[in-house]
Amino acid sequence: MARILITSALPYINGVKHLGNLAGSMLPADVYARFKRAQGHEVIYICATDEHGTPAELAAAQAHQDVFTYCEEQHAIQHRIGRGFGLSWDWFGRSSSPQNRALTQHFADVLEDNGYIEERTDRMIYSVHDKRFLPDRYVEGTCPICGYRPARGDQCDNCGSLLDPVDLIEPYSAISGSAELEIRETRHLYLLQTKLADEIRAWVDTKGEWPQLARSIAYKHLDEGLIDRGITRDLAWGVPVTRGGQPRPGFEDKVFYVWFDAPIEYIGATREWADATGADWERWWRLDKGANDVRYVEFMGKDNVAFHTVSFPATIIGSGEPWKMVDTLKAFNWLNWYGEKFSTSHKRGVFMDTALEIQPPDCWRWYLTANCPEGSDTSFTWEQFQAAVNRDLADVLGNFVNRILKFCETRFEGVVPAGGEPGPLEHKLHSDLSAGLSELTGQLEAMELRKSAQAARALWVLGNEYLTEAAPWTAIKSDPARAALIVRTGINLVGLFARISAPFIPFAAEKIVEAVGEAYPPAWPSADAAAELGRIEAGRPVRAPEVLFRKLEDAQIEAWTAEFAGG
Ligand code: 2FM
Ligand code: ZN
Repeated sequence: MARILITSALPYINGVKHLGNLAGSMLPADVYARFKRAQGHEVIYICATDEHGTPAELAAAQAHQDVFTYCEEQHAIQHRIGRGFGLSWDWFGRSSSPQNRALTQHFADVLEDNGYIEERTDRMIYSVHDKRFLPDRYVEGTCPICGYRPARGDQCDNCGSLLDPVDLIEPYSAISGSAELEIRETRHLYLLQTKLADEIRAWVDTKGEWPQLARSIAYKHLDEGLIDRGITRDLAWGVPVTRGGQPRPGFEDKVFYVWFDAPIEYIGATREWADATGADWERWWRLDKGANDVRYVEFMGKDNVAFHTVSFPATIIGSGEPWKMVDTLKAFNWLNWYGEKFSTSHKRGVFMDTALEIQPPDCWRWYLTANCPEGSDTSFTWEQFQAAVNRDLADVLGNFVNRILKFCETRFEGVVPAGGEPGPLEHKLHSDLSAGLSELTGQLEAMELRKSAQAARALWVLGNEYLTEAAPWTAIKSDPARAALIVRTGINLVGLFARISAPFIPFAAEKIVEAVGEAYPPAWPSADAAAELGRIEAGRPVRAPEVLFRKLEDAQIEAWTAEFAGG
């Protein structure tokens, strides 16, 4: 059995996330974590809120709260909602934790000791009206690459280019809107990525197994040429800049850049977990403390890939210390809302809190996995959502479970019947199922989420086809032993479906498992279908569960379409 460390990109603290954030990092990481745990591996899935930097300060100001209180409240909200979706984090930490502060300051120290950090004089945007420097998102303007307005000072939301605030055309302050800006000099720390470029490239070259999207983005950035990166900012909220544990002279009013400390929080959050539970965090992260055996998998949206394939590796490699680095990086495109971006201010799209209020988590989980933006950007549509719930979950899976268990209740007093021998139909079923199980396991191993969902659905369909062909309701009149065999096979299929569905739809899987008297969480099945269908033996009491999935009426879909259209 392996040890697998899983992280998903840390959601910004600035408000409840939308379904695209869920679909492009946290949910696939959870599906994978559940799958790997079910296989018996030792897994930790770590996530946290990304709390520093301008996004937090701006959001807190908008909410008329101090940033500390704001972050505390928003962390609790995001934690609760994530749990509501069944996200099985072993720890959901905070990048503002003392553990992360200590680690961030440590990395800065060793990077400087190794000659990879230097102080430079910078020309930064200063707002005369706001009487302060305006780093990153505190400046908005027109993107110099694609012309989009308002582009943010650190990144253009439209074309994804990483920007420097001074590059923006016709910039203005995001605090006051004032365009009375000047360039002033200030001192900052720079991480000398240019010195590390060859080592980073050599490391990426060893990652032939990374999925294509991640590799192509990594090479794009390496080929464009790395630049030295400012890792401090003129802000109050963040990790204080220290040297050897003391405030760094001249940097008293500055903090580390959020993108410097955020990925370090993957380690920080693992330490938070260890401090809270008594677990050993070093065996997950330190190669000299046993982490050599760990397989580390990261999940994220495509805009985060450069930070995880270049910037964070620069921190780790430059430290010269034996830290665990990512083995596989799964990246996603965007999930849009009818071709447009989700937008809180325009009320366009469904955000995670509202999603849970209007539909059970499994419906979202299933839809968002089966339609995740894997190969290209995709758009949410209510029609597809309705089809995923009504056809896949209610008609195919829910109906199967209900049909066979109800029949067992009415004709066999709710006890798995004995008798009968497998015939040609069962032999065909075994071979089709075995092939389907191999396919599903292979797709999950490859982290191909859409294909995994298709493979799971194909297995549910096989069960329905078997039941229709075997027709126990007819057999029971002429051949009760045959009917018993079919019902026993059907109930074993129910158990098998719960096991393969648990990573995708854990809440329903738990109900199904209970209905057939199996343990939860269930273990992942082998590809030997004949053996898997012999687990639930004659004599076991079973019962039909309450309705697993409620169908969505057209009228409801029309109402939601109007309600969440935005504008
Ligand atoms: O893009 C984002 O939402 C960032 N908050 C992701 C950070 S991932 C990690 F590096 F912390
Ligand atoms: Zn742009």
